[in-house]
Amino acid sequence: MKEVYIETYGCQMNVADTEVIFSILEKEGYHRCEDIDRADIIMANTCSIRDNAEQRILGRIEQFVLQRKSRPVIIGILGCMAERMKEQLLSGGKVDIVAGPDAYRRLPQLLEAAADGHPQIDVILSREETYADISPLRLDKNGVSAYISIMRGCNNVCSYCVVPYTRGVERSRDCSSIVREACECVQKGYREVTLLGQNVDSYHFGDVDFAGLLEMVARISPQLRLRFSTSNPQDISDSVLKVMASYPNICHHIHLPVQSGSDRILEKMRRRYSRAWYLERVARIREYMPDCAISTDVIAGFCSETEEDHQLTLSLFEEVRFDAAFMFYYSERPGTLAAKKYPDDVPIEVKTRRLNEIIALQNRLSLESNRADLGKVFEVLVEGPSKKGGQLCGRAGNNKMCVWVDETHKAGDYVNVKVVDCSQATLLCELI
Ligand code: 5AD
Ligand code: SF4
Repeated sequence: MKEVYIETYGCQMNVADTEVIFSILEKEGYHRCEDIDRADIIMANTCSIRDNAEQRILGRIEQFVLQRKSRPVIIGILGCMAERMKEQLLSGGKVDIVAGPDAYRRLPQLLEAAADGHPQIDVILSREETYADISPLRLDKNGVSAYISIMRGCNNVCSYCVVPYTRGVERSRDCSSIVREACECVQKGYREVTLLGQNVDSYHFGDVDFAGLLEMVARISPQLRLRFSTSNPQDISDSVLKVMASYPNICHHIHLPVQSGSDRILEKMRRRYSRAWYLERVARIREYMPDCAISTDVIAGFCSETEEDHQLTLSLFEEVRFDAAFMFYYSERPGTLAAKKYPDDVPIEVKTRRLNEIIALQNRLSLESNRADLGKVFEVLVEGPSKKGGQLCGRAGNNKMCVWVDETHKAGDYVNVKVVDCSQATLLCELI
């Protein structure tokens, strides 16, 4: 009764958490099972960031329940939705375990009690938990690129965002445990680590800040590439940019969510920076690293957004010329400041239309950004075969996906390729 199947939804942080969960469970004699039809325990590590993410998971629970026709199955909901919906998830008798993001060490106990027929819930948030001592069970397929969580929670309280409520207060993980984990990755053959936090620039442990941490990890091995996410426009510092510019193994890519191009909307979102501040940070990034790719997140149709506000978002996109963007329309989250203070008053048709306008613009900008790379040579870390036979794929330092014909290299190799053609999503390259 110890075969565990977990589906992971949402952000990279959840992927990293699922790896921690499996590590905790394997120590207690549970095994990872990739086939839902054979699992004794079926769990979803969930996301609450937008309503459609939650609806999808509620639909999945119905599917999980069908498995009970053939055998007894324990069903668990973990992560942000567990934290947000709490007991609600237990009503109806479909779910046996509800465990929030800081309760994973107790999962073996919760599973045991649930196996005896008692539904279990633990949604207590911690001020200290960072799972620092746990070596995650890596779940990636190619053994090339690993996530390392460097902090948990968030103190920003942006008015639209549910994360501070589901993941609790911000806490940084002991830097020596981060360095140890990165060294373990190198020993296991990993060639890239991505340091994860909701707001990496506010990392601090003792007197080590994020710039210091980056430097510590960058020094482990020149063969280990380093990425990180997410940066906050308010907090990204010149010292971080300096470290990025001076270590060749730190990738020149910054994910810098802007959310809106209108100061009025940014203030309502409680983002604590202005359009001018954001543009200044972008200019500074490019001053330190002219080749640095910048990606962003944006929300269309936030409370009271006018056509003029929307145009300011479009013009900011034109001005920055993002290399990539994750684009959403506003989804009101119960309990957030925005839900309490501002009516969700932009009609869904208007939200969708504005979102589509942003997507169309970004599609053009992504294509233009890729065209600007034609003829350039990039060092690419091979991730594995691409969908098309005979070709390999991997990312350049700027995070763009490259594909090229190659019979000689394998996952984990560094190769130099020249960009010869492109689509909006991919750079088509030649091995050199
Ligand atoms: N509605 C829509 N998008 C949201 N995001 C966060 N909260 C919401 C919400 N309530 C987006 C932001 C954030 C990304 C992870 O998700 O753009 O940067
Ligand atoms: Fe949400 Fe803001 Fe924290 Fe990002 S920084 S997770 S947008 S509260």
